[in-house]
Amino acid sequence: MSNSMTLPPPSPTSLCWRASVEMMRLFLVFTCLCLGLVAAADWNIVSQKRRHGLAKSGLKTYCESWRINVELNNIRGFELVPQECVDHVTRYMTSSQYEADSQRAVEEVRLYLSSCCALKGDGKDAWIFDVDDTLLSTIPYYKKHGFGGQKLNASLLEAWMKESKAPALEHSLGLFHEIKDKGVKIFLISSRSETLRSSTVDNLIDVGYHGWSNLVLRGLEDQLQKVQQYKSDARKRLVDEGYRIWGIMGDQWSSVEGLPSVERTFKLPNSIYYIS
Ligand SMILES: *[C@@H]1O[C@H](CO)[C@@H](O)[C@H](O)[C@H]1NC(C)=O
Repeated sequence: MSNSMTLPPPSPTSLCWRASVEMMRLFLVFTCLCLGLVAAADWNIVSQKRRHGLAKSGLKTYCESWRINVELNNIRGFELVPQECVDHVTRYMTSSQYEADSQRAVEEVRLYLSSCCALKGDGKDAWIFDVDDTLLSTIPYYKKHGFGGQKLNASLLEAWMKESKAPALEHSLGLFHEIKDKGVKIFLISSRSETLRSSTVDNLIDVGYHGWSNLVLRGLEDQLQKVQQYKSDARKRLVDEGYRIWGIMGDQWSSVEGLPSVERTFKLPNSIYYIS
């Protein structure tokens, strides 16, 4: 009994065999590792789908997490919506969910304004809005131009803006007037070019916006710097003029980042483009 528990000393042949088993195992581990790296390198949801028969809901989950991470500013500076997510983004940006999300943001502004601020009524209380996809919608343009899945053609977009046909975002329009009626001065700081001033003013007035205090657009010298810096500089000028900026509502992180910071910022959803 005790004899059978004791292993005999390894013979030279069995040592050799064990060594080759060991070699084989190393080889397998190495091969798997390489395959894994290759798979990781060209990983995308489409090939993933092909390999593992990922269900449609998997693509939806992937694209929704891409979208939410854009909103969270974890994914930055993307130039194009990933091709496999263009349909998802199109659906979202034209959905009642997008409207509900925007409406909710506007309601949060209302809630904030109902108790936030000791408004002095001295003409120095101020609020900042973006223009595109905050007050006006560019969705009709992107509907015809690939919904963020095609490289931006700036001259085509500007030609569209020159037509002054952008519709108002309804919830923003209501909020705009409520803020103005509180005696708060409204400043519009947009990344649109100065050359679009008259078309932008016409467009805003046509769809119901009026009574803002200033519309800040990008002149030639501003085009040389990043939008985020240009918008910070515009805020700095307001603060230097003695304005108390109670909040900003915009659809881009570049509208709210940088100094001077303000009391509160409110981000509207935009999964189509990212302006740095
Ligand atoms: C933009 O679109 C116009 C008209 O289709 C075209 O002529 C021009 O080459 C495009 N520009 C770029 C940068 O793609």
